[in-house]
Amino acid sequence: MVDNNLKESIAKLKKEKNAVILAHYYQVEEIQEIADFVGDSLALAQWAAKTDAEVIVLCGVHFMGETAKILCPEKRVFIPDLNAGCSLADSCDAVEFEKFIQQYPDHTVISYVNTSAAVKALTDIVVTSSNARQIIETLPSNAPIIFGPDRNLGNYINSLTGRNMVLWDGACHVHEQFSVEKIIELKKKHSNALLIAHPECKTVILNLADHIGSTASLLKFTSTSNATEFIVATEVGILFEMRNSNPNKTFIPAPPNDSTCACNECNFMKLNTVQKLYLCLKNENPEIYVDETVRLKAVKSIIKMLDLSRKLGL
Ligand code: 13P
Ligand code: SF4
Repeated sequence: MVDNNLKESIAKLKKEKNAVILAHYYQVEEIQEIADFVGDSLALAQWAAKTDAEVIVLCGVHFMGETAKILCPEKRVFIPDLNAGCSLADSCDAVEFEKFIQQYPDHTVISYVNTSAAVKALTDIVVTSSNARQIIETLPSNAPIIFGPDRNLGNYINSLTGRNMVLWDGACHVHEQFSVEKIIELKKKHSNALLIAHPECKTVILNLADHIGSTASLLKFTSTSNATEFIVATEVGILFEMRNSNPNKTFIPAPPNDSTCACNECNFMKLNTVQKLYLCLKNENPEIYVDETVRLKAVKSIIKMLDLSRKLGL
């Protein structure tokens, strides 16, 4: 529970500054409780693009704040902790990515939203886990495509669509950590439980899953499914919303390989706290800036995603 004084101070600052608080499902519960909107990375970009607020506080990781700033250069965008990065975005250096794509001329470059602004500037279409498959399927089935940076999501889409996209070899340190052996043990113990997994998980985990999808898709599945028990293979923060929406259902976080650490927690996402959120609104810092030359290139690939998502009804 958020301390009431802090909650009131944040509400007052928000009003004074005409600010909106957008939060990702992986944020600590207290932030999800006070945010104006909680969603997956696609929904956060869609919200940022349409809000009338003058200030956006993006409670998530750096690339999410950057995406909001790229879409809304006239707004001020803050994140509670500037060190909230992303191992997946970090696994794709823009200089190396540029050399990589130069090896494959005539390929359409599709990048997952978990990338830096510089990588988005080299990209034709940005996608998220909520729309990647559908957007890729708008291209002719024989279209040559480069997909980066997540090899697991890329392999998954290749297997679903029968395509042979050239993949950048990147991954997320949280989703790569789930233990297949421990998940099998859990499934034996909870024989009625369904395994639901984010497509950033390794193929061995996805092969066992009853449902695969973005955080928003996993959440929807738990509400619409008749099942009452779920083993959840994604960052543990999503369980807050799952339990709120389905108080009579049971959610079991999938265990990581190394049980001595909380590897199913994204240490970057968890850097943001309500106290830091309050300070960032009060001090208007840390702020997200994007070089204008980079922004002008990156915005095209994000707008393409938003336009296609709208057409596809996503
Ligand atoms: P979503 O697109 O499902 O929100 O996932 C973002 C993310 O960072 C997953 O690790
Ligand atoms: Fe990045 Fe993984 Fe954290 Fe998602 S869970 S923000 S992909 S490091």
